[in-house]
Amino acid sequence: MLITQFQAHHLLTRNEVIGVPTETVYGLAGNAFSETAVAKIFEAKNRPTFDPLIVHVASHEMLSEVVSHVPEEYLELMQHFWPGPLTLLFQKSTEIPDLVTSGLPKVAVRWPAHPEFQALLQSLPFPLAAPSANPFGYISPTSAQHVMDQLGDKIGGVLEGGECEVGVESTIVDVENGEFKVLRLGGIAVEDIERVIGKKVAVQTSSSQPAAPGMLDQHYAPKTKLWWGDIQEGLKLFEGKKIAVLSFMASEGDYFNQPLSARGSLTEAAAHLFKYMRQLDGQGWEVIIAEPLPNIGLGRAINDRLLRASIK
Ligand code: TXA
Ligand code: MG
Repeated sequence: MLITQFQAHHLLTRNEVIGVPTETVYGLAGNAFSETAVAKIFEAKNRPTFDPLIVHVASHEMLSEVVSHVPEEYLELMQHFWPGPLTLLFQKSTEIPDLVTSGLPKVAVRWPAHPEFQALLQSLPFPLAAPSANPFGYISPTSAQHVMDQLGDKIGGVLEGGECEVGVESTIVDVENGEFKVLRLGGIAVEDIERVIGKKVAVQTSSSQPAAPGMLDQHYAPKTKLWWGDIQEGLKLFEGKKIAVLSFMASEGDYFNQPLSARGSLTEAAAHLFKYMRQLDGQGWEVIIAEPLPNIGLGRAINDRLLRASIK
């Protein structure tokens, strides 16, 4: 069911959980100060409780209630990329239940840019914990309809906010002893972060890193087998199967082709990624062959998602 801002506000105040639009992907939001609401998020998504949630704020006052202090190293990043698709790790305040951070001492915080979501946050006296609004392990939703299709019967409703402009989740950054680390590639390119802070950052997105338990190897996956690699190699490997090719730009050949961006824009490709994966997943193919994109800018985040969605 689609709901209004007014209904969204009312449901959240009663510790219900709802779908909300963000510029990255739709989120499944609940009162981050309420263990009851947070437990409902984990339950609706069927998400293991060892995978912590991102807390969303839309004011400096709210931020100061969520974190125990703001490291100086973050100030430039906050100034450049908030509101926007950047999540930062902070020492958590005592108001944040351990369930939100899966018992970790740090909490992941983001100030989202989507106008409807910001307005909702600013109308509430508490921040919102919100993971992507997909069943655990499946493709993230980039429209209200995606959320209704998959979680509609488990949640209070979805606030409509159009199609997500960025299309991949936020970039997650941590700082420890002055050293920056990217824990998840996402909507802000690593190159842009390095430009703002004036130094190189380490990218540590492997699932073996205990600091980011959510970065599991198999994630964002369609039900259809997805193979990630060179198109010609994939065609040979799966000869005789019903094949769809998810390419960067248009690809000529004797197969069904879905380009992510005909004009070769990585920004457009990111915005289309999850929508096209979902569409292909519903079309009865035996195999989806997905091509690696140029490994620069948003291409890195897209490649990360395709790799995790793929059979190994
Ligand atoms: O763009 C986004 O970030 C979206 C929208 C809804 O804001 N949210 C999102 O949430 O992608 P989710 O739950 O699907 O992914 C959150 C990731 C997980 O991989 C989780 O492990 C990591 O953030 N994370 C959350 N809190 C963390 C923490 N305290 N330490 C390390 N990783 C954390
Ligand atoms: Mg997710």
